[in-house]
Amino acid sequence: MLARRTAQHAIRLLQKTASTACSKSLQSFPSGAVSNVRQVMAPVVCASARQYCAPAAAYENIITSVENENVGVITLNRPKALNALCDVLMTEMETALINFESDPKIGCIILTGGSGKAFAAGADIKEMVDRTFVDVVSGNFLAHWNKLATCKKPVLAAVNGFALGGGCEIAMMCDIIYASEKAKFGQPEINLGTIPGAGGTQRLVKAVGKSKAMEMCLTGDIISAQEAMQFGLVSKVVPPEALFETALATATKIASQSKLITQICKEAINTSFETTLAEGNHFEKRLFHATFATNDRKEGMTAFAEKRKANFTDS
Ligand code: CAA
Repeated sequence: MLARRTAQHAIRLLQKTASTACSKSLQSFPSGAVSNVRQVMAPVVCASARQYCAPAAAYENIITSVENENVGVITLNRPKALNALCDVLMTEMETALINFESDPKIGCIILTGGSGKAFAAGADIKEMVDRTFVDVVSGNFLAHWNKLATCKKPVLAAVNGFALGGGCEIAMMCDIIYASEKAKFGQPEINLGTIPGAGGTQRLVKAVGKSKAMEMCLTGDIISAQEAMQFGLVSKVVPPEALFETALATATKIASQSKLITQICKEAINTSFETTLAEGNHFEKRLFHATFATNDRKEGMTAFAEKRKANFTDS
């Protein structure tokens, strides 16, 4: 009995250590070196930390990890093409999002391009060049990108360098955008004889207003992180070396709240994009009322009254 307990404890310790080692090591490497590290480490470390790292071993264009036990991190990892969003990469991202969404421990997700030159330089132009109208209509091209926008858990984009075209669009699908001082945003599709196709013409207007959105989409001009902040596209600009830690601090804070209430709150805010003010207020009121059916609402208010930290159970 004692031997079994000791063995179980040893396994738990090994899993914890391996998980931390896996995620910390991957984060601390420059993005170009990460795929090599992943290939070497994955079979060794991830076997012991299956619940955290197993999917990463299967990915070619992204890296996933878990930080602080409840923050899922998706790092785009196609540095040679400035993280251009090829079909395989976006399919992998969809899978990673589904995995994090269904993991009850994960309370917030960070999407980042790592520490390289680009968050993402857009859809893969070379992959698109020979596509025809019939192809893209019959295959409903880019439809699977939408998983990012419909993810139930909060997603925070940490944008390091170029976020152009589809790169800007996936950042806008996220719930919060933090930018490094080196980040650059733009919708340059007009230069390619096309238009934004993953929500750019719609979400950009809501983020920065019609005049700026028109200017960006019709000229293809790129704006700096500071301009993006000024126009409300991003909520924080920080030095490049502080980007991930700043994003992680916020994501950890979000993940420490009730995951149930966080999901309800996200749904309420997103509804404001789809409806009138009166209908939105009505929907919000109903969701607010619904929180009174949860244990976490009772616990949150009781904890306040008892001057202690709330112990949420996501129920
Ligand atoms: N697709 C495919 N490959 C891309 C790419 C993209 N969107 N962006 C960059 N790359 C590749 C380059 O072809 C190059 O590859 P090679 O080394 O094999 O030649 C590599 O990444 C490095 O790029 P650059 O040499 O061009 O790097 P740079 O520093 O000189 O320029 C840049 C950086 C300004 C971002 C430039 O790469 C660029 O303009 N990229 C395209 C940006 C763009 O037009 N994005 C919109 C795409 S369309 C879209 O996204 C549609 C949609 O709405 C979904």
